[in-house]
Amino acid sequence: MKGISTRKDEHLEIALRGDVEGPLSTWLECARFVHNALPEISIEDVDTSVEFLGRSLRAPLLIEAITGGSLKAKEVNERLARIAQELGIAIEVGSQRPMLLDPSLAESYKVVRRIAKDVPVIANIGGVQLAKIGVEGARKLAEEIEADAISIHLNPVHEIVQVEGDRDFRGVLDSIRSAVRELGLPVIVKEVGFGISREVAKLLSECGVHAIDVAGAGGTNWVRIEMLRRYSEGSDSIYFELADWGIPTAASIIEARSGAPSTIIIASGGIRRGVDIAVSIALGADIVGIARPALLDAVCGTRNVESMIRTLRSVMVLLGASSIKELASAPLVIMDKLAQWVCARKLGLRNKNAYVPCYQ
Ligand SMILES: Cc1cc2nc3c(=O)[nH]c(=O)nc-3n(C[C@H](O)[C@H](O)[C@H](O)COP(=O)(O)O)c2cc1C
Repeated sequence: MKGISTRKDEHLEIALRGDVEGPLSTWLECARFVHNALPEISIEDVDTSVEFLGRSLRAPLLIEAITGGSLKAKEVNERLARIAQELGIAIEVGSQRPMLLDPSLAESYKVVRRIAKDVPVIANIGGVQLAKIGVEGARKLAEEIEADAISIHLNPVHEIVQVEGDRDFRGVLDSIRSAVRELGLPVIVKEVGFGISREVAKLLSECGVHAIDVAGAGGTNWVRIEMLRRYSEGSDSIYFELADWGIPTAASIIEARSGAPSTIIIASGGIRRGVDIAVSIALGADIVGIARPALLDAVCGTRNVESMIRTLRSVMVLLGASSIKELASAPLVIMDKLAQWVCARKLGLRNKNAYVPCYQ
């Protein structure tokens, strides 16, 4: 079996070069804003800042967990941290499991706090690993990188399709409950690209988690990544059958908000445009997370994240919204598959100016 650092590097390489998105869309395109031709505000007056984890963000954004645990990962983390610090947005490190196995790999994560001095830095570990290392293990991981919070990722689909995957998912909810009670740091729970349902969000909010990151379907797809990793060894039908598994991001934002009305909801999974950020907030999210476009910025020198923030400001002008709070109640129409999902699941929307056909 390959070492964990090699596996992490393969994931990075495939995510950068491979065709790893789709076939599902995020369904964010099923929510359309009602354009305001008389916005009566100046772009200078648009304030995109929000508070998160006790610090102020210049835009409601988080660079999602991506990497750590190898020399290459250290370089990527340095660059991601520079982007976060420059843009004034939060950053989460990739799974810290490699440093549990080899403490010399800690440096590839610690570099993030050294550079991203003024923004929230978030530690990361899998729910399955948390159940094994317990609260003390998690505390060490967070302390080593001077994190403001820890995020626990739930990735049953990835574990199922990954050859090296861990398929025992018992005890994860209990270990999250213990972490919330005993860690003394905010706990965030995230998916990795298949979404969080209302029922799961409700269980997590009852545990008292600080935030839920939906990481819905429609962006980076781990079934595709694992299929590409195994391509030369012949294919397995599970990769094809599960390729479109998951709750699309737009539906998952509404699901999570319905199950956890007063918990911070982070929208992620396929956020690729400034308009996607705005729609996510109007659908019920507080913060928006971006992984693959930020990875491309770090490695290829694109400026995806910066450009999305610029578009977000322009979109807010076109809606007459001068703050993120006002954006959250901008009028929008929910159509097509997303409307059918919302009606079938009898989901409520936080945004009282959201129009869903079945509500009339
Ligand atoms: C190369 C790569 C590595 C990732 N590693 C982790 C990880 O270690 N821990 C985690 O919680 N999520 C991980 N993710 C998932 C992301 O944090 C995010 O939830 C998901 O990719 C959806 O965002 P996107 O569509 O913008 O890429 C990774 C994503 C990518 C692209």
